[in-house]
This record gives sequence, C-alpha cells and structure tokens, in this order.
Amino acid sequence: MPFIIAIDGPAASGKGTIARALAERLGFHHLDTGLLYRATGAKGGDPVAAARDLGPADLARPDLRSSDAGQAASRVAAIPEVRAALVDFQRRFARQEPGAVLDGRDIGTVICPDAQVKLYVTASDQVRAARRAAELGADPAEMLAQLRDRDRRDSERATAPLKPADDAVILDTTSLGIEAAIAAALAEVDRVL
Ligand code: C5P
Repeated sequence: MPFIIAIDGPAASGKGTIARALAERLGFHHLDTGLLYRATGAKGGDPVAAARDLGPADLARPDLRSSDAGQAASRVAAIPEVRAALVDFQRRFARQEPGAVLDGRDIGTVICPDAQVKLYVTASDQVRAARRAAELGADPAEMLAQLRDRDRRDSERATAPLKPADDAVILDTTSLGIEAAIAAALAEVDRVL
C-alpha cells in the first residue's frame, strides 16, 4: 500500500515548503492542492465547470501565486460542487507508489483520512504575513489583513473547513527556521515508517 503524508494548515504556514522537502527527500510524489483551487478561481466563468475541466495548462498559469488568485481560490473553494469535482483527482494522486505528499486544507480530514502521517502546520498570523509579504514583495500589514480574511473564510465554510484532523500532529513553525521545521516533519515520518 502506498504511503500517504497529509499536510494541512493556514496560508503561509510553511506547509508547502515542508511538503516539497519531504517529497524530495523520500522520493515521493507531491501535490500542492491549493493550486487546483487557484486554477479554478483564475479560469473564470462557472466555477463548477472550471473545476471539472481543469487541465495541465490551467495549472501552469504564471499568475496563480498572486494574492488575488489566493482570494479567488478561497471563494470558489467554499462551493461544495467545486470541492466534489476535485476529490477523485486528489485521491488517485495520493495512491501512487511509493508514496505521496499532499498539502492543503482538508487532506487529513476529507481527502485522505487514512493517511499514515498527518501534520497540521501553523504559525502566528504576524509571522505568516511577514513571510508571505517578503515572498511577494507586498506590504506586511495589507498581507496580514488578507491572510486573516482568507483564513476566516477557509475555517468558517460548511464543507471541509480548515481544521486539524483529530489524529494530526501539530507543527508550529512560528519560531522555527525552515530546516528545523523540515527536520521536525521528517522525525514524525520516521516515527511511523
Ligand atoms: O494553499 P493555497 O494558499 O495555495 O490555497 C489557496 C486556497 O485554496 C485556500 O485559501 C483555500 O481556500 C483553498 N484550498 C482548499 N482546500 C485545499 C487547498 C486549498 O480549500 N485542500
């Protein structure tokens, strides 16, 4: 049976960087599931049709990393039919040998509830906003307002809200450098492997 690592958490918590690093070091496949929602929001038109028709070109758009794309993603992500349209792809991806790392908001709770490792990566609002502002060259105060807005929408939606799975290990990266955060995540995988 393939090994599945589910990594969830709020925006700019470090989950994407940790997921990429784990996949690289373990030789696993990696899926940034936020990209699916970003591409759905960016495609325009009917979001349910957009989610059903997503193709490789949609996922390769250069504008998907912007904060506008993040906000648009969190709006379409609240639509149950959009989420339903993306479930099968994510579950199929997760079942690849020798293993897969998926990062998002509902991987441990909804997409892969049987994942062998579940991490919930978080950090203080201020630290997350500062990291994302540095990454995008944006104003930290504006970034903070945007992140809080997006986290609220993601946590309060009725379908697959952002929250740790009951059996997730919480990894708070507020005062951890990236290498320390990756080491903590790897230690958790080693404990289970
Ligand atoms: O992770 P990222 O910031 O790229 O995600 C963009 C948005 O996509 C999130 O704010 C969230 O609304 C949505 N998302 C989701 N479920 C996932 C991944 C992302 O609802 N598994």
